[in-house]
Amino acid sequence: MLFSSRFDVLTSPLPEPFAGTVARIDRRQMSQPIAILTAMEQEGRLVEASLDAHRQESWGGRRYVSGTVAQIPIVTAISGFGKVAAAATVAAVLERYRPAKVLFAGVAGGVGRGVAIGDIVVAESLVQHDFDARPLFDRFVVPSLGSARIPADPALTDGLVTAAAEFLAKGGLDPAASSSGTYDPASVTVHRGTIASGDRFIASIADASVLLRDLPDVLAVEMEGAAVAQVCTEAGVPFAVFRSISDRADHLADADFLAFIESVAAPLTAGIVTEFLLALS
Ligand code: ADE
Repeated sequence: MLFSSRFDVLTSPLPEPFAGTVARIDRRQMSQPIAILTAMEQEGRLVEASLDAHRQESWGGRRYVSGTVAQIPIVTAISGFGKVAAAATVAAVLERYRPAKVLFAGVAGGVGRGVAIGDIVVAESLVQHDFDARPLFDRFVVPSLGSARIPADPALTDGLVTAAAEFLAKGGLDPAASSSGTYDPASVTVHRGTIASGDRFIASIADASVLLRDLPDVLAVEMEGAAVAQVCTEAGVPFAVFRSISDRADHLADADFLAFIESVAAPLTAGIVTEFLLALS
């Protein structure tokens, strides 16, 4: 058995009330939505729950829920872990919903100096830390883009930084929302900079140090953002990525991650997304 029971939370089936019901969407009735994607149900469930008049369709093993927040059309989807899952999900969203912009949200491991559990990191650019087509191309360079760093849309990135600051200024999460003790709203910092993505959960100081040796400016590691960045850039669709820091990518990373996603990730993600959308409305 590969997974012990404490990992069941990462592989659980779709929650009620959506599982099993499929409604087709008449896309002519929607202006171009904003796509809001997360990797895990625990990260996205409150964003999804905040949609008015939601409808859903299922395709390729994923459900796509659309509706409005403050009358702004939104489509949400939960990609699953990793770059392939994220790329498949965002490609389907782009093709089927034609969103005007894409946000990817969730948790990450903090590796940059001073990036603490509970902090927010908004990506100015993303890099695939496990992409290596040497000797054909320099390390990390994505051939179709001709670069290693994939810049996020500056206006969306500014909007997310402002939204995160607003959310915190209003008090952030109620500390009582966190039973894990890993979230202290009074000491949260919003960072902006480089996020690295790869198909590995980083859970040792040695591995985090190797990554930082090769990519010294990286603030946070996760498993999806740079894949979304590549697909959106190739499609010419503006995107941005923000992450709350669930762990320090060290030997405690799995325990910290599990505690954080259970109690903090969903309200934090939804709080910042809501601030972002309210500023648009
Ligand atoms: N997402 C959250 N924490 C992570 C870590 N330590 N490594 C990769 N992805 C993560």
